[in-house]
Amino acid sequence: MQLEVWSKGLAQLPVGCVVAGVFDEPALAPETRTLDAAAGGKLGALIERGDFSGRSGETLLLTEVSGVAAGRVLLVGLGAAKSFNRKAWRRACAAAVAVLARTRIPSAAFAIERPPARQLDDYYFGRCIAEIAGSALYRVNDLKTGKKPPAPALERIVAGPVRASGAAAARRGLHHGSALVRAMSVQRDLANLPANVCTPDYLAAQARAIAKQYSAVRVQVLDEPAIRRLKMGCFLAVTQGSDQPPRFIVLEYRGGKAGQAPVVLVGKGITFDSGGISLKDPPGMDEMKFDMSGAAAVLAAITFAAEARLPLRVVGLVAACENMPSGRAVKPGDIVTSASGQTVEILNTDAEGRLILSDALHYARRLRPAVVIDIATLTGACVVALGHHHTGVLSTDDALAHELVAAGVRADDRAWHLPLTEEYGEQLKSNFADFANVGGREGGAITAAAFLSKFTQGMVWAHLDVAGTAYVGGAHKGSTGRPTPLLSDFLAHRAGRAG
Ligand code: BES
Ligand code: MN
Ligand code: ZN
Repeated sequence: MQLEVWSKGLAQLPVGCVVAGVFDEPALAPETRTLDAAAGGKLGALIERGDFSGRSGETLLLTEVSGVAAGRVLLVGLGAAKSFNRKAWRRACAAAVAVLARTRIPSAAFAIERPPARQLDDYYFGRCIAEIAGSALYRVNDLKTGKKPPAPALERIVAGPVRASGAAAARRGLHHGSALVRAMSVQRDLANLPANVCTPDYLAAQARAIAKQYSAVRVQVLDEPAIRRLKMGCFLAVTQGSDQPPRFIVLEYRGGKAGQAPVVLVGKGITFDSGGISLKDPPGMDEMKFDMSGAAAVLAAITFAAEARLPLRVVGLVAACENMPSGRAVKPGDIVTSASGQTVEILNTDAEGRLILSDALHYARRLRPAVVIDIATLTGACVVALGHHHTGVLSTDDALAHELVAAGVRADDRAWHLPLTEEYGEQLKSNFADFANVGGREGGAITAAAFLSKFTQGMVWAHLDVAGTAYVGGAHKGSTGRPTPLLSDFLAHRAGRAG
């Protein structure tokens, strides 16, 4: 997708279509008024006739519009002017791209009224346009054998109006937005694949492919003997019931100054979570192929950093394996020794995410990180607490938690800070080991984080529980690409390149 900005001369732009917004009131939005004047009053007249109401989400494609170089005008309803905000603007832009995608129109100029600058500055204007276009044009990587519908023809968007003083910021936004689109499709494609295709080794191969694509990215893949040498007893306990070999992936983007303390991202890469001996109920078990969404988000974040060429060092760590029942599987009550040397009583084999993360978090220590953030579809309890709208943020560092929540607000990929005080750790008491891997039903998302915190002492760390946000079930079952917008925004801000 080619993305540009425009500042004036809307009616003369050499594109296939101009997209204009209409409020549900008689007065025309400023850009639409300019366009209407060029078109000899055609737009105003048809609105007056009642052919278009301006209801939010409504669209009308007009052809052979004389006076407008494009010849086509796509009207998009914006709803009420007084409640017009960033969300309504996003909805209108998405509706426009959806209509354009069903045509053979190759290029379009967007001239939809912009929400107030304090809600959407030039950088975010560009970023959002790229992101909205990218997600509206995303096609699920299904394995259906029928004929695929033709790819949309839309390959160029000119967005505006952007004043000359804001053009550089808007272009940087467009650049970051396309990087984000690329990153989100990395995540969604990986997460949507079935577990018999997307195995731990497949994830490793994708990490290698990313390293091949970007010269600033290096990869290292550790196999089982290497994982054993690192004494990752918790990780090994989870993988031991599976016939698929585990992989520990280290993917590094070197964008900052040499020797800069890295941002370390740690992803849960359970390519299928059956629950193990603590087997899950059958309904919806297929959705546990999405249990590697955290790992996919890490590969996506590295892709974003490389694509946006951020001046930052980012290291992604992924522990990838399956959680399966078998004669060799770990059993409830088994006690293992983690890479940190602490012993863990595995009371429930379905609480496997925290086990593989604990060894990966311990590995992060050797990188002397500025911050460590893990991303995991960790608990059903987080879905009970927050539903599907907010990612859970848990941290022993309030400043980092706030930084992540703020990134989520800016990226329209919201997260909510849950408490993580010491009392919760007491629920993990074990009679036989240093602690157990589960802490009972109460506060399940928090006790999971309390478990992780046993391995992050002395590091600036936060945990993102994306069990409710990384994918949706039901009729639209599939990966959402979250929390890649949040993480990308976090990284861009850390690099000082946003805004
Ligand atoms: N992968 C699941 C968490 C999950 C549940 C993600 C539902 C998405 C939707 C995780 O490994 C798990 O099984 N957690 C258990 C923990 C429990 C045994 C303490 C859970 O949430 O039930
Ligand atoms: Mn589980
Ligand atoms: Zn799991």
